[in-house]
Amino acid sequence: MTEFPRFPAAFEWGCATAAFQIEGGATEGGKLPSIWDHFCAQPGRIKDGSDGLVACDHFHRFREDVALMADLGFRHYRFSIAWTRVIREDGSANPEGLDFYRRLLDALAHRGITPNATLFHWDLPAHLQRAHRGWLGRETAQRFADYAALVARELGDRLPRVATLNEPWCSAFLGHDIGVFAPGVQDRPSSLLAAHHLMLAHGLGLQAWRAERSGTQLGIVLNPELCAPASDAPADVAAAHMAELERNDVFLNPLFGREWPAEMLAQIGPLGEQRRPEDLTAIAQPLDFIGLNYYTRSIAQSPVTPDEQRRGYRFVPPDPAKTRLTDIGWEIYPEGLDRVTRKLLAQWPLPPIWITENGAADNTPVVAGACDDRLRLGYLQSHLAQLSQMVASGLDIRGYYVWSLLDNFEWAQGYSQRFGVVHVDYATQQRTPKASARWFQQLMTSPQA
Ligand code: GCO
Repeated sequence: MTEFPRFPAAFEWGCATAAFQIEGGATEGGKLPSIWDHFCAQPGRIKDGSDGLVACDHFHRFREDVALMADLGFRHYRFSIAWTRVIREDGSANPEGLDFYRRLLDALAHRGITPNATLFHWDLPAHLQRAHRGWLGRETAQRFADYAALVARELGDRLPRVATLNEPWCSAFLGHDIGVFAPGVQDRPSSLLAAHHLMLAHGLGLQAWRAERSGTQLGIVLNPELCAPASDAPADVAAAHMAELERNDVFLNPLFGREWPAEMLAQIGPLGEQRRPEDLTAIAQPLDFIGLNYYTRSIAQSPVTPDEQRRGYRFVPPDPAKTRLTDIGWEIYPEGLDRVTRKLLAQWPLPPIWITENGAADNTPVVAGACDDRLRLGYLQSHLAQLSQMVASGLDIRGYYVWSLLDNFEWAQGYSQRFGVVHVDYATQQRTPKASARWFQQLMTSPQA
């Protein structure tokens, strides 16, 4: 008999998705375009030239997908609401878009699955980019608060737990410094300003939600990371420190009322004047939980090019001869889950933690109706063994969500990287649970500690 890692009986098991990555239905029900629709339309932005117009067609197939989740034994589902589906350009509610989420929530309730919603998983309304420069404009943070209030009013009675943002680091730095994510800006000071406005949106959003409704557990989902120095050389150690300040401190400091580190204030330069002293109070709202997404670690070296010098570090890819990698090229490093969590707890007074994403790209195809995704299975087993020890040692971690239920649109990688525990044939939209899904099913139904 297989040995499963042990977890407390109340531990939550779930799977996660995001609207743009699975929904499709891009122009239906009055949905507006997001910056990701526009980004995908620009040649060369997405590896396979694809887009999110159909994706997993979840917009039409959500009942089937919810039934599949239930059959696999998931009792919790983390998904995101598309801002562009529920609110019109003039700020009024879009009843058709809200109805989609009501039907989804009905289907989940019918199957006994608890929803866990994220308000912003990167799909900013394109009109806010056009009119207010997206996250470079302060107005966007206010619009986010209006959107949060609308969701609280319209859907909040059905949502026990809500996160404001998913991985604001990606929106800020991949979107405005590296430029590989929408909106594709490449300017270091701008990325820091975007990070500030994202965190302001979080704070104003929490206040707006609480003004509409009490009783919802509210928080945020971050992707903190350990950045190991490439060597013991002081320049590499300093580079790794800079990478961690960007990745962690820029987001966690303001959540707890602390100013950014001096190095980041220096990097934002004159654009920092757009940060107002009162913003820090607005951002530091009480948190009911924090979601941590964990995939890998990174390795930093002292900077070489002018862009790297502006950042203070350069990333070096892991050496495939020395490390095990997933199909997307990320190091498999389960110890990092423990190390990064403890590092965060040592630095900031975190509320209860949920692991809101963890998973691997494993592009194993379906052969004769089955998908034997051994790489993913090994990845999940090693990370859950690690997590089991962490929980047993007393860390306040209450649940785990695998990324992802379905293979889906993997942002700049298009459909070339598969993260699902369920395989999706994009030509037929057929879903095939992989070996990892079957293992999960047994784990979730095995007698717990
Ligand atoms: C993330 C994202 C997902 C990605 C996943 C794999 O929050 O980073 O939520 O959208 O698909 O991380 O890269």
